[in-house]
Amino acid sequence: MTGRAKITIVGAGSVGATCAHWTAAKELGDIVLVDIVEGLPQGKALDLREASPIEGFDCEIVGTNRYEETADSDVIIITSGLARKPGMSRDDLIARNTEIVGSVARQAAKFSPKAVMIVVSNPLDAMVYVAWKASGFPTHRVVGQAGILDTARFRTFIAMELGCSVEDISTLLLGGHGDDMVPLPSCTAVGGIPVTSLISKDRLDAIVDRARKGGGEIVALLKTGSAYYAPAAASVQMAEAIIRDKKRVLPCAAYCGKEYGIGGYFVGVPCILGKGGVEKVLEVPLSSQEKAAFQVSIEHVKELVAVVQKIGA
Ligand code: 2OP
Repeated sequence: MTGRAKITIVGAGSVGATCAHWTAAKELGDIVLVDIVEGLPQGKALDLREASPIEGFDCEIVGTNRYEETADSDVIIITSGLARKPGMSRDDLIARNTEIVGSVARQAAKFSPKAVMIVVSNPLDAMVYVAWKASGFPTHRVVGQAGILDTARFRTFIAMELGCSVEDISTLLLGGHGDDMVPLPSCTAVGGIPVTSLISKDRLDAIVDRARKGGGEIVALLKTGSAYYAPAAASVQMAEAIIRDKKRVLPCAAYCGKEYGIGGYFVGVPCILGKGGVEKVLEVPLSSQEKAAFQVSIEHVKELVAVVQKIGA
């Protein structure tokens, strides 16, 4: 990367527009916001650009309906697709979002063949697979956003429980981005102190349950769509790790071949994220109970991938 990085954000809805907002605020690079709706990306991009003299960020922000303008992006964030409404699970979006994500990934990859692609659309783990197939990219350059969001929810709830800073809570979570995701209290510390010595098992179980269902809690409150501030912040943290080659250790939906014995699926695992995309998947020792819960989540991801394969992804 020379000069400013270029970030394409596909989808100018709430998640996409908020990604553009955080990306600009962090001055990660020039931004192209793409959507099929005429005027929407152009209007949001111009509005955001007009905030730059006030907030003091320097970057180009362009809105467009054409992928030509996304050419040579370093990072592509795909947020396109339907969001769930109350009563829906992420899996209910699979047919329509397979079509949408496949189409946008194909077009974006054509103009930015060297980019790293971050997928945010749901059902997440299956949509990463769809984007990987459609883009033709190597596995390490396609990665899904979910674990950062899910651990952020877990960290938030722990901080609320203890009345301490969210910054001092480090944690880990494995598995797919569904209600069977696996937060790991055994890998959670508060300022270095094991969380299990600070919060009782009953309370911790309740917090784990709330984190697992955190997406649904927001959907039920909003009624018209799903969360976007935290999903966008998580996506931009990944973009920052890649653009600044920070080699952050973050939970992401990464391709696992031999790792954890998964055998060729994108699943939430801790990985090192840098300029090359997913530079390494890290394996954590798990108790037999954690292994069993992880396996349930992996099986769910496999079922969803079987559905998208049937659709023809
Ligand atoms: C969530 O968990 C939208 O899947 C996203 O809020």
